[in-house]
Amino acid sequence: MRPSIPMPEKGAPAPTVLEVLDRLERQDADYRHHRLFGLVYRHSEDHEALIREVAGRFLDTNALNPMAFRSLRRLEAETVSMAADLFHGDHEVVGTLTSGGTESLLLAVLAMREWARAHRPWVLRPEVLVPASAHAAFYKAGHCFGVRIRRVPLDRDFRVDLGALRRRIGWQTIGLVASAPCYPYGVVDPVPEMGAIAARKGIPLHVDACLGGFLLPFVESLPAEWRHGEIPPWDFRVPGVTSISADVHKYGYGAKGASLILYRDGQWMRHQFTVETDWCGGVYVSPTLAGTRPGGPIAAAWAALASLGREGYLQNARRLMETARVFREGVEGIAGLRLLGRPVMSVLGIGAVPGGPSPYAMADQMEQRGWHVDRLQDPPGIHLILNPGHGEVAEAFLEDLREACRYVAAHPEVAAEGTAPLYGMIAGVPLRGLVRRNVQSFLLGLYRPPRGPSVLEGLPETPEAGPDALSSEGPALPSWLRQAMGAWYRLRGASRSQ
Ligand SMILES: Cc1ncc(COP(=O)(O)O)c(C=O)c1O
Repeated sequence: MRPSIPMPEKGAPAPTVLEVLDRLERQDADYRHHRLFGLVYRHSEDHEALIREVAGRFLDTNALNPMAFRSLRRLEAETVSMAADLFHGDHEVVGTLTSGGTESLLLAVLAMREWARAHRPWVLRPEVLVPASAHAAFYKAGHCFGVRIRRVPLDRDFRVDLGALRRRIGWQTIGLVASAPCYPYGVVDPVPEMGAIAARKGIPLHVDACLGGFLLPFVESLPAEWRHGEIPPWDFRVPGVTSISADVHKYGYGAKGASLILYRDGQWMRHQFTVETDWCGGVYVSPTLAGTRPGGPIAAAWAALASLGREGYLQNARRLMETARVFREGVEGIAGLRLLGRPVMSVLGIGAVPGGPSPYAMADQMEQRGWHVDRLQDPPGIHLILNPGHGEVAEAFLEDLREACRYVAAHPEVAAEGTAPLYGMIAGVPLRGLVRRNVQSFLLGLYRPPRGPSVLEGLPETPEAGPDALSSEGPALPSWLRQAMGAWYRLRGASRSQ
């Protein structure tokens, strides 16, 4: 049987294509009116117009061959240099742009592994130590490159536990990771102490500043009353830091598809390159993981840094920190809720106090009220990444959050309805293999071929039914197991938030 949506014999006219896309887009999360708290980073309409223009202009270009596109080589080198300056590096700092934070982290781990192959011949099972809060992309890196990613527990402030870190370092340890800040709680690990440990052991320390790279430097320079807790030095000021990742497509406000990986000097960076000398297609050289490297995000990354400058990013940091203060104080004023740790910038984890309402049930309630929020596990929580524009909706959001909190407290049974028990199970069940297999099935469902007809022939007004969210209808667990797990989670959920 042919796939349900065959290749059209005749192409559709451009206006039809654009009209279909307009209608499809209307089914997306409403980020333009600030109802979404993640995935999208927006500066201002003027800035976005510039980025769109630059990315479009370089649409056809390819940085795979920097000799053919000298413009891209220059723009990339200047972007690296501006970021090195921002991160207190010197003229020895080198780096590349990548397609995103994940690719930067993959390269950081690859470079550690290749460095260890060259300098630690006794390492047979390389391992990298990461705080439990480090981004999941490190596990992808470990999976791809055969490196064991070992999780180090956190302290009470959700930063890496230094004692546990010291105890875990062994003969097979080829590197350490810190976050500035981490995704789940928005806190910065104790980088100076970690740098000292790494330097003493003679191993690299990568700082994942994918989220904070283009915000922390400016938050640091704001007067103390603007800040929420101290930010330790986290960049090349710390002698043991050997590499830093920072996403231009997040708070750097470039086009999507742009992150930086910087190394203190070339002796570290050489380990991320691929050089294949015996390929019949010629000597193949590739600086990053991608082959073809789209020029649009590279030129737009340069344009973002060049056009905003320190002044533009500082102004943005002020707007963001003002917005973050309103959200923080609002959350702290709601009985039953608490902030997880002391978030230093605009990324917040919101949990429940002992005996408080289920954060997953609250997230469901917020979604019913038209807000898109992410969920955290361990402890269960709601996750917000703020844009300056969220200032416009802060009061409405907080009012809905108060209302959701009251509702869930008054109706604790909703923790067993909607998506809440499913997230609860995912967070709480000890059978991780089972969870993995079910999430794999869910993903397979999500990426199954669409049912016809093609959107060109007519678009349903509502999105196609299916596993669009991790719904209670989602992963196909046997019902007896779901019930048992739901009961188990409810019992455990109560004790977990204690
Ligand atoms: C701290 C941190 N590191 C890495 C990443 C991965 O970035 P990307 O989604 O661009 O691959 C993220 C994404 O949110 C992040 O928050």
